[in-house]
Amino acid sequence: MTIHIGAEPGDIAPTVLMPGDPKRAEWAAQRFLDNARQVNAVRGMSGYTGTWQGHPVTIHGSGMGMASLSIYANELIRDFGATTLIRIGSCGAMQHDVKLRDVILAMTASSISTPSSNMLRELNFAPCADWGLLRAAVHAAEAKGSTPHVGGIYSSDTFYDERADLTEALTRHGALAVEMETAELYTVAARYGVRALAVLTVSDHLITGAALDSGVRESSFGEMVEIALGAAFG
Ligand code: HPA
Repeated sequence: MTIHIGAEPGDIAPTVLMPGDPKRAEWAAQRFLDNARQVNAVRGMSGYTGTWQGHPVTIHGSGMGMASLSIYANELIRDFGATTLIRIGSCGAMQHDVKLRDVILAMTASSISTPSSNMLRELNFAPCADWGLLRAAVHAAEAKGSTPHVGGIYSSDTFYDERADLTEALTRHGALAVEMETAELYTVAARYGVRALAVLTVSDHLITGAALDSGVRESSFGEMVEIALGAAFG
């Protein structure tokens, strides 16, 4: 048991999928895992462990934002031996050619700050995805008939952001989308020498203002779970 994860040693699989929403962790575990059992419920943050095609898998919520994700990623890796962490989540598109429901595989994630920034002093660390996972995720997505966007994203600390100039500069520099977790996930994974990837679907569009309705969000979430599982064991 750790401060935030009430699991026993061995309850967490080496491969962990991390949706932001703990309810999505429950939904995905029920839908995709065999013999899923709940391994964490501390502070309502659900984690489930089961098997997928015979492989042990944990699906554990990260919460929203890098501060929350950082706590769970640190404990999952350091105390429970997770070696592959795949975020599955939503993002807001920042390019015209990125459409609602498109899949984005984050090669890297820019940020103004992460929970790790101060530990790295003046270093401007460049967080990056695990190449093998990224490559396997491209193949898994293509096998499902989806053509993912692969490139840089922006991990923000601010959902309700009034800095239009910053958004515009990121768009000009090719950022595909904004979300709130990946830069810290990649940094923590790098610190411990484990594999990480973010598989995202576009839930809203910062340029056009369009947004997915909740039914479509659920089916696009299922598609991300399949891509993430295919990447982990591909
Ligand atoms: N901003 C930040 N995070 C997000 C967004 C957004 O527009 N959409 C989904 N996650």
